Amino acid sequence: MSENRIIKKYKNGELTVLWEPKKCIHAAICVETLPKVYDPNAKPWIKPENASIQELKAQIDKCPSSALTYEVENLELNENKNISMKTKVDVMENGPLLVQGTLHIKNINGEVEIKNKTTAFCRCGASVNKPYCDGAHKKIDFVG
Ligand code: SF4
Ligand code: FES
Repeated sequence: MSENRIIKKYKNGELTVLWEPKKCIHAAICVETLPKVYDPNAKPWIKPENASIQELKAQIDKCPSSALTYEVENLELNENKNISMKTKVDVMENGPLLVQGTLHIKNINGEVEIKNKTTAFCRCGASVNKPYCDGAHKKIDFVG
């Protein structure tokens, strides 16, 4: 399997949306939040010109896998990128547990990782990147 990191770019003025297909866990939060921008059946599937920069930033911060990120030319727009948030937990139907907020996650080796924004935890048991979801729930048709 190729280890190449493929990152696709979609530009809207000062903001460029970056999408890394390998990281996408198909939680479809992007499609639900900004359907005018994200349409999996269209080409290109991301049309950033259909939303404001603030709308794009707010939505990209909710992408649970960090498959979506952004680059901005104007530094002021970067300001809020690392702000910590209140904790919120959502159970995705047939998918992961989404936890929003700043999390300190200790893995089984005792290493601590800090996650901001939204983190997706595997509920189906099939992820090879536990405790995180890697999209495997789709492949096994997880129901729950
Ligand atoms: S993981 Fe991110 S890019 Fe992939 S479908 Fe979900 S919100 Fe969209
Ligand atoms: S819930 Fe997504 S891989 Fe298990």
